[in-house]
Amino acid sequence: MATVTTPTARPTGAELEEALDDGITRVRVNGVDRELAIDPDTPLLWALRDELRLTGTKYGCGIAQCGACTVMMDGQTIRSCVTPISAADGGIVTTIEAIDSPEAKAVQEAWVAIDVPQCGYCQSGQVMSATALLTENRKPTDIDIDNAMAGNVCRCATYVRIRQAIHDAAKKLEA
Ligand code: FES
Ligand code: FES
Repeated sequence: MATVTTPTARPTGAELEEALDDGITRVRVNGVDRELAIDPDTPLLWALRDELRLTGTKYGCGIAQCGACTVMMDGQTIRSCVTPISAADGGIVTTIEAIDSPEAKAVQEAWVAIDVPQCGYCQSGQVMSATALLTENRKPTDIDIDNAMAGNVCRCATYVRIRQAIHDAAKKLEA
């Protein structure tokens, strides 16, 4: 996994205007500036997977209902399957391949320690959402976790282990 520290602020002023004006999507992905000459309606998910070969982000439903495609854009989790690449123009995107904050590391270690995944398909989205939760709330309750993770569906029903791993990661961050 790449370890890239990713800034979370969009460019402003002349830099942003250039990014928005010429039909080319400029987006910083995992700390690397990219230029994408593709249909502006292309979902960000397919730009990541097909153009940039970042296949850790998964396609599940395509209608913002399962969370498999979750990535960070400008510091917020988004569903990349319903986010056109034009919305990412001038933006900063981080995928599962490059999350490296203390919260992300704690989540990934907790995931491994109790062997959360079953088939694994949903898990990059789960890890992105769990990381976002702990970034905002270092001591989530069960209800906080259930609310934050409600948009991430797991067909293997790993929900109990996900909840435990988030609590374990929170404890590790406290220590
Ligand atoms: S593939 Fe995006 S939410 Fe399901
Ligand atoms: S681990 Fe199989 S869908 Fe979640």
